[in-house]
Amino acid sequence: MDTRLIAASPAEVETECLVVFALDHSVKDHANKDLNSKCQGSNSNSKDKPEPRLAIKDAILEKAVADLVASGEVTGKAFETALLHRPQGLKAKRLMVVGAGKAKSFTHAEVRKAAGSAIRALKPKMIKSCAFLIPDLATGAEDAVRTLVEGALVADFDPDTYRSDRKDLSVKEITVVAPSGSDQGKLQNALTQGRVIGESQNFTRELVNEPSNRLTPTMLADRAKKMCDTVGLKCELMGPDKIKALKMGAFWSVAQGSDEEPRLIVMRYEPQDAPEKPVLGLVGKGITFDTGGISIKPADGMEKMKYDMAGGAAMIGAMRAIALLKPKVKVIGIVCASENMPSGKAQKPGDVQIAMSGKSIEIINTDAEGRLVLADGLFYARTLGCTHLIDAATLTGACVVALGYANAGVFANDEDAYQHFTTALKRSGEKFWRLPLDQEYLDQIRSNIADLMNTGGRWGGASTAAVFLKEFVDDTPWLHLDIAGTAWMEENKSWIAKGPSGIGVRSLIEFVRTFEGK
Ligand code: BES
Ligand code: MN
Ligand code: ZN
Repeated sequence: MDTRLIAASPAEVETECLVVFALDHSVKDHANKDLNSKCQGSNSNSKDKPEPRLAIKDAILEKAVADLVASGEVTGKAFETALLHRPQGLKAKRLMVVGAGKAKSFTHAEVRKAAGSAIRALKPKMIKSCAFLIPDLATGAEDAVRTLVEGALVADFDPDTYRSDRKDLSVKEITVVAPSGSDQGKLQNALTQGRVIGESQNFTRELVNEPSNRLTPTMLADRAKKMCDTVGLKCELMGPDKIKALKMGAFWSVAQGSDEEPRLIVMRYEPQDAPEKPVLGLVGKGITFDTGGISIKPADGMEKMKYDMAGGAAMIGAMRAIALLKPKVKVIGIVCASENMPSGKAQKPGDVQIAMSGKSIEIINTDAEGRLVLADGLFYARTLGCTHLIDAATLTGACVVALGYANAGVFANDEDAYQHFTTALKRSGEKFWRLPLDQEYLDQIRSNIADLMNTGGRWGGASTAAVFLKEFVDDTPWLHLDIAGTAWMEENKSWIAKGPSGIGVRSLIEFVRTFEGK
């Protein structure tokens, strides 16, 4: 998708489809409603009636949509779309009005979804280009432009890669229309940021979408390397010999059961103008297929386990964006890529493994493999000089039980690092909920024969997995993102296709940017 910025008045824009957002300005007031119904009887509904208004002030536009609004077809309701052909007084061929919800709660999160809903409504109509009017947003026009472009790109992605009758429905170009007289330089910069971020999120989604026969650990590594070569990152790929030589016993214990070789992927962003410290380490779980190993998973739904590399793919996507956005901070991306397979060579419950850090681990359940590969990935990041760590992983079903599909889990051993992350969330619009890392959870994973067990019983599974990881980061400020429930969309939404979501990519990018110049 091409993106461009122009300065023009809405009426002047020549386009296949001009897109404008509408907001509902009505305020639901229950106290008043009750009062009304008591005092005035039949008048009681007046407060619930939507009061749609365009999210941009323009007399010609308002006139063009007047009939549509009067008809009740436009209410401002979140992500509803209405399409008008040959809008009066405009040069555009069509005018699309997209609801963006209540005016009171209108933020960049709605801008992304509304822009996305417009794109996903246009795609089946074979409309190949459109122009967005920048909505008036409390946090400013730059925020609106960046998030609008992010939302449009994310919406353009569909996962039907291997359909032989696949039609290319993608929108080829979007134009962002700035009011004449606005700061074009700043808005152009915001547009470029949005494009880099949206494309990087989609790159991650492409990787996550691939089935395990078309994306083995070796192929994932090669895709990462190719990306690094394109954007100018250093990239090192290591196979079984190097993994064993580094004494990554936890990582290798997962890899040993597979005929496919594992890969340790190391991507480095080390700009000349960055200070020596901090060095941020982004560590991702890259299980290209998780059968469970000898503790094999049930057949029902096992096909989904191709997305068990979503954390690793998020790191690869984030590194791409970082290379292009060039923040002045050092970042190292590490992905531990492996399959988790049952075989004659596979590890078994009861086995004891020695991690790179020297800690011994009793394997209780070979399906708790993510924490094993990450234990060595996180420790290795510290040996490379990382001063701050963040990992992302589809780590536990327990996290899905706790938070469902609405929120991903975040764990932190350091308040300052957590603050950086919450700042990042304010810009990324992704939803994470903090979960605990108390000492008690560690007691659940103490082993009789070794330092740790790789599972901690039935309860608190997201936290016992997290404290297991914590044992390998020591005092290094660290965040753990459990994206098991959010990396795959179970349903189509009006702004994003069912399938890989690319969760984490935007927050990781924004997280890195919060360290710039610190
Ligand atoms: N990859 C799974 C976690 C997962 C579950 C991801 C659902 C996405 C959706 C992970 O490797 C796993 O199998 N975890 C086990 C751990 C258990 C054996 C302690 C789980 O959550 O059941
Ligand atoms: Mn597993
Ligand atoms: Zn797994």
